[in-house]
Amino acid sequence: MTRRLFVTTALPYANGSFHIGHIMEYIQADIWVRFQRMQGREVHFVCADDAHGAPIMLKAQSEGITPRELVDRIAAERPKYLEGFHVSFDHWHSTESPENTELSQDIYRKLRAAGLIATRTIEQFYDPVKGMFLPDRYIKGECPKCGAKDQYGDSCEVCGAVYSPTELKSPYSTITGASPVMRESEHFFFSLSDPRCVAFLREWALDGRLQPEVANKAREWLEGDQQDGSSTGMADWDISRDEPYFGIPIPDAPGKYFYVWLDAPVGYLASLKANCAKRGLDFNEFIAPDSDVEQVHFIGKDIIYFHTLFWPAMLKFAGYKVPDRVHVHGFITVSGEKMSKSRGTGISPLRYLDLGMNPEWLRYYLAAKLNARVEDVDFNPDDFMARVNADLVGKLVNIASRCAGFLVKRFDGQLAAIDHGAHEGFAKPWSGPEAVAALYEQREFAKAMREIMQFADAVNQYVDAEKPWDLAKDAARTADLHRCCSTALRAFRDLVLLLSPVLPSLTDKVRAFMNLSATDWDALATPLPEGHRINAYQHLLTRVDPKQLDALFEVPADSAPSQTPSTAATAASKAQSGSSKAAAALPEGTISIDDFALVDLRIARIVSAEQVEGSDKLLKLTLDVGEARHRTVFSGIRAWYQPEQLTGKLTVMVANLAPRKMKFGVSEGMVLAASASDDGGGVFLLDPHAGAQPGMKVR
Ligand code: MSP
Ligand code: ZN
Repeated sequence: MTRRLFVTTALPYANGSFHIGHIMEYIQADIWVRFQRMQGREVHFVCADDAHGAPIMLKAQSEGITPRELVDRIAAERPKYLEGFHVSFDHWHSTESPENTELSQDIYRKLRAAGLIATRTIEQFYDPVKGMFLPDRYIKGECPKCGAKDQYGDSCEVCGAVYSPTELKSPYSTITGASPVMRESEHFFFSLSDPRCVAFLREWALDGRLQPEVANKAREWLEGDQQDGSSTGMADWDISRDEPYFGIPIPDAPGKYFYVWLDAPVGYLASLKANCAKRGLDFNEFIAPDSDVEQVHFIGKDIIYFHTLFWPAMLKFAGYKVPDRVHVHGFITVSGEKMSKSRGTGISPLRYLDLGMNPEWLRYYLAAKLNARVEDVDFNPDDFMARVNADLVGKLVNIASRCAGFLVKRFDGQLAAIDHGAHEGFAKPWSGPEAVAALYEQREFAKAMREIMQFADAVNQYVDAEKPWDLAKDAARTADLHRCCSTALRAFRDLVLLLSPVLPSLTDKVRAFMNLSATDWDALATPLPEGHRINAYQHLLTRVDPKQLDALFEVPADSAPSQTPSTAATAASKAQSGSSKAAAALPEGTISIDDFALVDLRIARIVSAEQVEGSDKLLKLTLDVGEARHRTVFSGIRAWYQPEQLTGKLTVMVANLAPRKMKFGVSEGMVLAASASDDGGGVFLLDPHAGAQPGMKVR
């Protein structure tokens, strides 16, 4: 029977763009999923935005928009990244959705019916000015040990002391600056300390389904080992938050919402459910406790607790299927340093794509470094370039580029008979397709890549020894030339199939160029037959250009819309000098895509438009470009537009134009409009189609 798989990646918080850590997780899961699909397995690969919680609510407030608007804006950016890196989700959903509300409330009701929900009154810091209970991260104060100012409520960055928020001296709310007061509130708890939960989790977490280091963590938590050797066991889990909160209401409890971490994993099921509806599948078949569909979650090491304790117990005692596996990965570091989300460090995935860097370079590089353990993975630019250029260009593409031309020109593209001797020779230095399949299955991608590259080495040695370029000069050796090129290209097809989970786009190109009808794993069992015809060689993959890497680390482009205009301008002029050499090779009157990319075009919402006193030409526009603050732009459109016509409309602006001091104030960009050269016949602002959101890039 075909294996059926339900695969997820962690739901990213919807208050920010993807960073390279997210992309790494998606690439790891996507390679595994594509491998499973090649094996003929039925895979349902889904994810969603994690939309709820206090940080999203507060961020939206600070931007003057609703949480829903914030979440929608972020959701609108997602496809660009996912398509850009060839991540093949079947569906992308949101935890702010009817499916998720219904499922979360249903799970809660079932847990309550099972006697696993308790209520208790707790005391918590409350911001009397904001009128809300304060999550710990919004409380600061003086360290109770050393007196350092402005320390968070859990630990001191100066002396390292660990304490609870109530121990801080002179605590204050970071939202309003007010002194918080202690206030009581009734909270709902999931009774994880219940012997039924503990017994179930011991069995579930320790039966070998988890990676050993993950199982060890779960064991420590389950046993609640204290540093003094005593054991406290599992604590109950506080699952409620008081209004105001952006979340899902708790049934029969006015003013109470589920804590975001309760409804977040339920989002896996909500997304699956929406996917089932889209494809006419029966959702209940997937979630029934005895379902044969394997449930696999890919997550990072920071969220193990939620996925190995809370989530399986929630599912179990609500009567649903429990996860079969949780695949935990480490973090990506850049040149050995922990990734920082602040500007100028790390790698911006969008910048990577905008620079025209090949997504498959990154996919291959990560594959060459990933294993099944919870280890961090380092992105090192020099290593990246060396690895990709040596393996993908030097070993893989090199085979096709050296042999395909002769085959097409001299033999009408048709393969000669199979050379069994050479074929067997290639099989020796590596362990073969079945072993590689087992490595993919176990997420030992680095080992799989090494095996495949050993095969590629053997093929290259063969071509080096046979020297088709010499054979081609000797009319007496035409048959040898034919045999050599055919043998190398057969092996090339096998290499591409083996790498296909990692390199889906290259596989598509090779499928077209080599006329491949089958590109599943089984196709490896049958060598391309004698007489199989290939097409003219198509360029497959370029080398990594060190200039691109320089550019990748030079400008924090994710933040382009929120850069001050002047830093954007410096960045652009740097990029300009970098690309001027390349420009020399372009046909007269044309620009390169890099030149075009210098202009940062963004969707802007016209928040307000006003006439400018003393000017009969200008309107003063206040624009929302998806940044924390609004921009002011003076535009010479007064003759053609009444201010009230424009309010609330979307248009397109140049966001990285250097700010210009004008008589009436500073203009921070330019809106785009169409007109004849003399403005005769009118001036017409650009108007994006419905669905565009402030801050989106126009490209
Ligand atoms: N919203 C929660 C997950 C809810 S799942 C029901 C969350 N979101 S997150 O955006 O902070 O992280 C999403 C995923 O990205 C997590 O698996 C996390 O471990 C992963 N990563 C975050 N930073 C990372 C790196 N630097 N490297 C690799 N993965 C990283 O947590
Ligand atoms: Zn201290």
